[in-house]
Amino acid sequence: MVLNDPIGAHGQEWWRHAVTYQIYPRSFADGDGDGVGDLAGITSRLPYLRDLGVDAVWISPFYTSPQKDHGYDVADYRDIDPLFGTLADADELLERAHEVGLKVIVDLVPNHTSDAHEWFQAALAAGPGSPERDRYLFRDSPAGAPGTPPNNWRSVFGGDAWTQVEDGQWYLHLFDASQPDLNWRNPEVGDMFVDVLRFWLDRGADGFRVDVAHGLFKEESLRDQVVAAGRQPSSDARDAADVPMVERTERDEPMWDQPEVHDVYRRWHEVLAKYDGDRMLVAEAWTQSPESMARYIREDEMSQAFNFAWLLASWSASEFTEVVTGTLAATEAVHGSPTWVLSNHDVDRHVTRYGGGPVGLARARAATLTMLALPGSAYLYQGEELGLEQVDVAPEHRSDPFWLRTGHVGRDGCRVPIPWSGEAPPFGFGPGDGQPWIPQPTAWAALTVEKQEADPDSTLAFYRAALAVRRTFAHTAGDAVEMLDLGPDVVAFRRGPLTVALNCGTEPVAVPDGDVLMASGPVGATLPADTAVWLG
Ligand code: GLC
Repeated sequence: MVLNDPIGAHGQEWWRHAVTYQIYPRSFADGDGDGVGDLAGITSRLPYLRDLGVDAVWISPFYTSPQKDHGYDVADYRDIDPLFGTLADADELLERAHEVGLKVIVDLVPNHTSDAHEWFQAALAAGPGSPERDRYLFRDSPAGAPGTPPNNWRSVFGGDAWTQVEDGQWYLHLFDASQPDLNWRNPEVGDMFVDVLRFWLDRGADGFRVDVAHGLFKEESLRDQVVAAGRQPSSDARDAADVPMVERTERDEPMWDQPEVHDVYRRWHEVLAKYDGDRMLVAEAWTQSPESMARYIREDEMSQAFNFAWLLASWSASEFTEVVTGTLAATEAVHGSPTWVLSNHDVDRHVTRYGGGPVGLARARAATLTMLALPGSAYLYQGEELGLEQVDVAPEHRSDPFWLRTGHVGRDGCRVPIPWSGEAPPFGFGPGDGQPWIPQPTAWAALTVEKQEADPDSTLAFYRAALAVRRTFAHTAGDAVEMLDLGPDVVAFRRGPLTVALNCGTEPVAVPDGDVLMASGPVGATLPADTAVWLG
């Protein structure tokens, strides 16, 4: 079996069928033993990722940062935070990754900087009306209402989206107060990011994951958000998750998804096109529908956009089927390439979302297998290949700004450092016995990479096998998907020679004809509940 063969040889861009593995650097592998993961740690584990069978890694931010949002608050886009290493470590990582056949996608954060960024510090010092303030969104209180924020927008992390500075002006931050939003109507901002793109492209980055890609432009008037009766103002598209998919209606979102944002991505497309090797852009855009998502991947814009629809759907054959058909229709309309993702560093891990314990794990494996059979590319989040669950992190160890601003549990529970080996924390996360920045559950002794490598029935063995089998059809099975009707509890489709079935019900169903290529659990004459199968 050839691992990581150059996909370009098939005459297609590498990212169209790639499986990309997301690394959250502070929680992946710790090279220096300070309890926080780093670039040297990632480099040391590249052989593990090659053997897993992924094509690319996406690395969450590693830039200089006060770490108020663990790196999504960037103080210098052209340097590495000392916590994670140096620019030389980044160069080394890129080189070694390429040597083992892995592409590297870096995370770009253009919606906001850190408040420690030199531009924001200059804006504070320069005062109202200055060119320095014009790089951000500073505004006064409404006339006659001193002490009142300029509009009713809420931060995604809770609380007002505005913070007042000493001279009485307010600045907008759709996230934490330490993450001031940039003013993308100021040309200096666009020019700066083109320089940043080139900086990382010149160093060998194969692509960029674009953070909050739908956020850069706000409606110019910065008017109030119109809020439906009975609802609270909110900037968080994920709030729609409590509304059944079929009932979701368009919300008023003057802070998101403005038409001007697409000019930015057209410009970036041209910058990337001047480089060799199919460099790519993938949007993190929490838009309201598959159609609005697809606008980001028109031919002269980004390569891909994360498709969060599946991750927002509950365990339901009808919802999953709607996600598959809706996604394929919307991406086809713009000749785009679909993406699939079940977990990332912002959401509860999918084993837990699907109920936790053995049932949650069976469902997570089944959903993963189904997703991996679809045309397009898939994104995996570190630790899902070990079947890790969301951890109930003790309050004193939580540091997510969402928790700090709202008192709601937040995202720390999907960011617990990876267990690599041994019988007790830190489970080989770093050298020595130093404990990681979030304590690992002792029960993870059974889930270490070391244990799972020795067990042919482990979730790690399942992921390796699924990715190896996927390689045999990913480039040849075509993009056409024909949905099959195997009853209301089953997601089923045919793609080229492949037939796929996922049983979301409680009773076994008949297995369609064909040889079993891969299954998420034991399969006999019938397909048990919470199980998926690939047939050839
Ligand atoms: C994105 C990131 C998230 C971060 C936020 C602000 O949603 O995925 O982790 O907190 O942007 O940058």
